[in-house]
Amino acid sequence: MAKTRWYKDAIIYQIYPRSFCDSNGDGIGDIRGIISKLDYLKELGINCVWLSPCYKSPNDDNGYDISNYRDIMDEFGTLEDWQEMIDGMHARGIRLIMDLVVNHTSDEHEWFKQARSSKDNPYRDYYIWHKGKGKDGRKPPNNWTSRFTGSAWEYDEKTGEFYLHLFSKKQPDLNWDNPKVRQEVIDICNYWFEKGVDGFRCDVITYISKDKNFPDGKFNPAICGDEHFVIGPHYHEYIHELNEKSWSLYDSLTVGEAQGITIDNAFDAVDESREELDCVFTFEHQTQVDSFLTTVPKKFSLVKWKKIFSSWQSLPETCWNSLYIENHDYPRSLPRYGKLKYRVKVAKMLAISINFLRGTPYIYQGQEIGMTNFANLKRKDYKDIVSIKIYDTVKKFLPVFLPIVKWALNKKARDHARAPMQWNSEPNAGFTTGKPWMAVNPNYVDINVEQAMEDKNGIWHFYKQLNEFRKGNEIIRNGTYKQYYPKDRNVWMYEREYEGKKYVVIASYTDKEVQFVVPQELKGKESKLVMSNYADCVKTLSDVTLRPYEAMVYAL
Ligand code: NOJ
Repeated sequence: MAKTRWYKDAIIYQIYPRSFCDSNGDGIGDIRGIISKLDYLKELGINCVWLSPCYKSPNDDNGYDISNYRDIMDEFGTLEDWQEMIDGMHARGIRLIMDLVVNHTSDEHEWFKQARSSKDNPYRDYYIWHKGKGKDGRKPPNNWTSRFTGSAWEYDEKTGEFYLHLFSKKQPDLNWDNPKVRQEVIDICNYWFEKGVDGFRCDVITYISKDKNFPDGKFNPAICGDEHFVIGPHYHEYIHELNEKSWSLYDSLTVGEAQGITIDNAFDAVDESREELDCVFTFEHQTQVDSFLTTVPKKFSLVKWKKIFSSWQSLPETCWNSLYIENHDYPRSLPRYGKLKYRVKVAKMLAISINFLRGTPYIYQGQEIGMTNFANLKRKDYKDIVSIKIYDTVKKFLPVFLPIVKWALNKKARDHARAPMQWNSEPNAGFTTGKPWMAVNPNYVDINVEQAMEDKNGIWHFYKQLNEFRKGNEIIRNGTYKQYYPKDRNVWMYEREYEGKKYVVIASYTDKEVQFVVPQELKGKESKLVMSNYADCVKTLSDVTLRPYEAMVYAL
């Protein structure tokens, strides 16, 4: 099927179902809760939803451990609910992409239950097994680490071998070198396509092919072995096969979560001629700030940030970008890039800087109202397997470091972004009438959807306006990108140009006043302010003292 590449005009809203909206009072978000908010999403002006996993799962990693790919998690509802949800989305002009989590399954998936039952079970080779080292064969086969800490190998008593798990031990890695496994994945994709989904967000997709010699990785106590399985030996071949046998048969979007894909190898991963993924979520801009895989947060550098975005913007026209600064794996963006004293200004400034770039923008639930981190996240609030593992391991083996770990988790735990959506100022932020599965951020009294929708000058209306502005806008969709002042540590200035028309974007990333000077080549050109985060910004492109986090866009 010829692809329309509809995603180039999409604005995608990510729903983390567990925390979005609870319809039945059990404290857990669910599909009927999503259905009840479809008009809300329509009004915000998004036209596609990425739904984090909603399949059957024992929830070791909140649904990223799937025990049945063809059915819905009990807490979330039924396949009938799901069908009603997608029909409701489509009726409102909203597409749906689902999470495809196929680097690993749950250990409670029937395939794994079979696989671990005996060495000659037909499903044994669906997973990656290896003999252990040492006299008794009880030492892991190599030094690879799980991205969730500790060895990536788990000894299985019954059959006396280790299996590989790059995430938790309840998430065994599938063996993609087995053609039957690849066929299963193709069948799963086609099953959901036939039910009407419009594409997939492909979880840790760059991990699927491993070096089967299993060499030790370069020493790194936190993440070891990457060089042997990130974009491994058959990665491109397997993705191409999936594209050929499934993704290309539907007018779909496939966006890969792509550790290891940098500007240097992006072309091979996403150029249209490759017939692999349509685009990726690069980690480059996120990891230069911090990453959930490394414990201590890093200092933000605007110069590096601009360099990364600018290089991705300069990819050939046949490559497409994904624009995101938030998702369920990072703390909220606002405290990372600005001072909370200026919450609304920072949120709008970030929205401007990112949404005028070339690519498909993503809004993570709550970003549209400027949700923030917890002020003080405590052990009892951790629900994420990663926070719990890090904290408990350090407490057990290196308790002197506990204060540092608490401090680091308070800044960067994934729990921050997974807190229930703040709908109104009623108890539990209107998320549930029961006891929420995790703590609600107490600031919901001031930051919530109801309040945000009433404030015409607030963040919510700003996103709505931006979403409207982007629709059908050829300069934003197709224009070239040029950066000004790349070395400036406070201001990001860039220009988008299409058929002689331009937008010039100026965004200050500091709470200090800074002087902005119009570049020589733009001086004296006719210009008009089209968007800004202060009501009284100068109406034409001029030399100006920028106020804290001031951002504006001029049409030239
Ligand atoms: C990436 C997902 O975004 C994250 O939430 C999950 O823990 C890992 N993949 C493992 O599936």
